[in-house]
Amino acid sequence: MTRARIIGTGCYAPKRVLTNADLARMVDTSDEWIVQRSGIRQRHIVDDGEATSDLAVRAAQQALERAGLVPEDIDFIAVGTTTPDMLFPSVGNIVQHRLGCRRAGSVDLLAACAGSIYSLATGAQFVQTGKYRRVLCIGAESLSRITDFTDRGTCVLLADAAGAAVLEATEEDRGILDVDLYSDGRYWDLLYMPGGGSRHPATHETVDARMHYAKMKGSEVFKVAVRMFADAAERILARNGFTASDVSLFVPHQANLRIIEAACKRVALPMDRVYVNVDRYGNTGAASVYVALAEAVEAGRVARGDLVLMAAFGGGFAWGAALMRW
Ligand code: UT7
Repeated sequence: MTRARIIGTGCYAPKRVLTNADLARMVDTSDEWIVQRSGIRQRHIVDDGEATSDLAVRAAQQALERAGLVPEDIDFIAVGTTTPDMLFPSVGNIVQHRLGCRRAGSVDLLAACAGSIYSLATGAQFVQTGKYRRVLCIGAESLSRITDFTDRGTCVLLADAAGAAVLEATEEDRGILDVDLYSDGRYWDLLYMPGGGSRHPATHETVDARMHYAKMKGSEVFKVAVRMFADAAERILARNGFTASDVSLFVPHQANLRIIEAACKRVALPMDRVYVNVDRYGNTGAASVYVALAEAVEAGRVARGDLVLMAAFGGGFAWGAALMRW
């Protein structure tokens, strides 16, 4: 049976750092509140002129290098993003050209913060069916571009980064074992951006009404997120004949430390087997699982044979989980 195995990971965050103290000078908040409620201490944000594809290209270059591949080796590019450089063409197209992946088709997947798992699932399917041998999966966001820096409910959370993973076909009994994707549009208005699409195209009025910023009902998202996270993790483990005690490392979407802790408690997964970097990056949407995985690999937290669980959830709601044998 052909499986898709991750043979290289990479990540990149823009140079500019925004600390909680910086935010406390912009809105009515404090370092203490942000750390207590979210676990976030700082985040990276793009500079003037910088965009999502710039971050994606850097992360992808690192992943290719670590995989020992050249851009021409890539057959397909799947990018999870909610904040493309422009509505079209896709970030995947821009990355394909800038990296020089001359043979590769490309696509963007919009599943908000679950874009990581959605892009990984897409890449894995193409590899498992034998259609493509090597797929470059990317999660990249410039969420600061859709953040209202007068809204303390969102601006302390959202941030920018990119991560990437190169998938390659293998006949060995390891790699991606299973992926689950879910969505429930009932919750669309808990986390969304009203302006700039076909419902409310950009006008002076939409700009004046601040409709080009993400709107979030934070505490409602919180509750559903914990439940979805835990359910997705439990289901994928059970279907594959595992329990939480088999998991060597859990790499969750980094939205809020309290969400991660609450979900892990429900699943009975101790925090020393969970990779957390939300303190340094904030919520980087579709990038976060890839960034965390790249850091975990770099830090030697994943060894051959380890069972690695990944899960993400976000606006839509869209969520999912993936299980890998490293
Ligand atoms: O990536 C996937 C999508 N996003 C998420 O996963 C985010 C999910 N939600 C969260 O992470 C949390 O709900 C937040 C961190 C956004 C908020 O934490 P919370 O514990 O749910 O707080 P809350 O929204 O219930 O607000 C509690 C209080 C409110 O004041 P009152 O009404 O009790 O007086 C807020 O106005 O905290 C206030 N508040 C703040 N205070 C200081 C809200 N934001 C801030 C802030 N600084 N930044």
